[in-house]
Amino acid sequence: MNLILDLDTGIDDALAISYAASQSDANLLGITTAFGNVRVETATRNSLAMLELLGLTDVPVAQGADRPWGAEEKYVPSETLLQVHGRNGIGEVVLPEPQRMPETTNAVDFLISKAREYGKDLTLVTTGPMTNLADAFKKDPEAISSIGKIVSMAGALTVPGNVTRYAEANIVNDAAAAKYVFESGFDITVVGLDVTLRTLLSGNDINAWKQPNSAIGNALAQMSDYYYANETDPDGNSVGGALHDPLAVDIALHPETITYQVPMNLTVEVGCESNGRTIGDLNRLTDETTTAIVCTNVEAAGFSRRFAAAILGLANRDQAQ
Ligand code: BDR
Ligand code: CA
Repeated sequence: MNLILDLDTGIDDALAISYAASQSDANLLGITTAFGNVRVETATRNSLAMLELLGLTDVPVAQGADRPWGAEEKYVPSETLLQVHGRNGIGEVVLPEPQRMPETTNAVDFLISKAREYGKDLTLVTTGPMTNLADAFKKDPEAISSIGKIVSMAGALTVPGNVTRYAEANIVNDAAAAKYVFESGFDITVVGLDVTLRTLLSGNDINAWKQPNSAIGNALAQMSDYYYANETDPDGNSVGGALHDPLAVDIALHPETITYQVPMNLTVEVGCESNGRTIGDLNRLTDETTTAIVCTNVEAAGFSRRFAAAILGLANRDQAQ
């Protein structure tokens, strides 16, 4: 499967890149980056550094949005986000300075050109704010509509949000762009907190990656330890190791992981108390066609085990080299 990952590369995005790298049926065509967990420049740097760690030095990285729609200033992550993902976005793990530069093409043009080249044979997974996707659709709706599959880690339909009681981080970081995406009329699979909060990693899983001679295993274990000590809900309760972004990659590759889904027309509430809430679009409630598939249950334990084993496989291979 030809895959592009659109990321705001913090810790679970880094785990998502690693998971994609472990899957023999994934052909990673590139990474596009956006602000979110970190500034966009840090997301780009982290993506390049992760690709080098994983030995994927021919996978291009194209930098994208540095702020949400309508913002005059460049985005700066909140103190809370810097605590969840660390000040460098990857849990204070120090990876070597990347040897490569990002593409000269920006994320939007990169997405459009790959959509034109691969069309229905392209799968796009977004695990950050939807700004790049919204900008790309605005610029070339025909190209973006031709993409075979779009899967987004975004939103919270049946559970509370993780930034406010209403809103999940990737949506609320650019609620206007997310609303535009959901109302644009192309098909999208939504992997929100409804399911990602069910897919948890255990301390034992993480400890098993700590192989003495594996740079990959140790870096991912250290990041995960950091994340799982610091990710909390809006009330400050520990979330306990939710595999948000890796689950979106898994669902793109293996849709059978979904055990329950709701086809619906989705929108986002903007500029009100519930800013960033994902909810059914009243204006399209009676439409015969629906464009979003919202995942509401998944084979959670099975995926968590598969994920932990896939990273262990990367660590073992790395150690053997
Ligand atoms: C999502 O927000 C980001 O902080 C994570 O990387 C994930 O994509 C979870 O709400
Ligand atoms: Ca993310």
